[in-house]
Amino acid sequence: MKILVTGGLGYIGSHTAVELSKNYETVIVDNLINSDISVIDCVNKISSSKIFFEKGDLTDLNTVKKIFKKHSDIKGIIHFAALKSVKESILNPTNYFHNNVVSLFNLLSEIKSSNMVVDFIFSSSATVYGEPDNLPILETERIKKVTSPYGKTKQICEEILSDYCKSNNSYFNCISLRYFNPIGAHKSSEIGELPKGIPQNLVPYITQTVAGIRKELTVFGSDYKTYDGTCIRDYIHVQDLANAHISALDYLRENKVVKNEFFNIGTGVGTSVFEMIKSFENVTGQKVNYKIGARRPGDTTAAYSDNKKAKTILGWKSIFSVEDALLSAWNWEKKIRGIN
Ligand code: NAD
Ligand code: UFG
Repeated sequence: MKILVTGGLGYIGSHTAVELSKNYETVIVDNLINSDISVIDCVNKISSSKIFFEKGDLTDLNTVKKIFKKHSDIKGIIHFAALKSVKESILNPTNYFHNNVVSLFNLLSEIKSSNMVVDFIFSSSATVYGEPDNLPILETERIKKVTSPYGKTKQICEEILSDYCKSNNSYFNCISLRYFNPIGAHKSSEIGELPKGIPQNLVPYITQTVAGIRKELTVFGSDYKTYDGTCIRDYIHVQDLANAHISALDYLRENKVVKNEFFNIGTGVGTSVFEMIKSFENVTGQKVNYKIGARRPGDTTAAYSDNKKAKTILGWKSIFSVEDALLSAWNWEKKIRGIN
């Protein structure tokens, strides 16, 4: 059974493709805007069956047509391809709306015009909740206006999918997975997170600081109303997140009327920035150089998931601890920097 993985050379897509290759024929499409061609070889080193790669930009309708024609036996699509930097999206919103929304639009219009029967999984984000009123966050939490164009693209894509499902018949089944904070790397250290330029996210900033690439980590605010003053997030090992896609795909195959169901994918446990630093130091034995800085605009105080819906309905659960994930992130950083 053939599954198309859009954005499959990226961080989460590459880990998911490896898991998929155990049971599915896997084809990746990626335009390499935020990934490197070398990832396909790394992925194939650890995959269970050969993973195929098509270079292409999903904002180009003809590319989508060509891929669908060549792989007319696709039975499922996992749609990761998107631009994902909150900061960049504020500086260049049109780019984000164009890339993220048009890519989805092209896939959906071609699914319809080629009468494809597919199960569809969309990479959404906990960012859709904005600053939540309740913790842990349930899927029924009120969706608020988000501050970044990136977040808006996720809200818009979720809505497009819901409308598409309503208008569209029995042949299109869909799940949107709302990821919390993916961290870590594959246990083989063959694949991991490869941020371009200065990392925006906490864990790659920590690992690059310890690797000597950055002078020090800035903790963005220690005056939040939390138990230690720093923000709280739900950090999930990327391998657990990858496996959530397999569970979602299996569920879609077994339940043929799934009209854009939302699932939180997180561990259900909140960890503060200070706790992340401490845990990293404990598991790696490395000291993290850090200073306290100002709050980062747009950060929410605390966000962690209620993941019961994914557990009960998808039969998925996270296995790895934050410590496991931090150690794998450090092993990956060491490998790519040639550190012993
Ligand atoms: P990533 O940037 O590592 O991977 C995305 C991949 O998509 C890249 O390889 C990029 O080259 C490709 N791509 C982008 N636009 C494309 C286009 N128009 N055509 C073809 N390929 C294109 O990002 P990631 O961290 O793996 O995230 C995957 C998905 O998960 C994204 O949709 C992202 O918004 C979502 N998400 C990520 C996080 C996170 O913290 N990493 C959290 C929540 C949701
Ligand atoms: N942080 C620092 N210093 C840094 C980087 C981050 O203190 O150098 C702090 C942030 O202020 C925040 C926490 O670490 O409190 C986590 O920040 P990240 O940037 O790693 O993650 P975010 O929760 O801000 O955002 C991430 C993704 C978004 C996604 C969201 C979903 O970057 O794309 O998770 O919850 F939408």
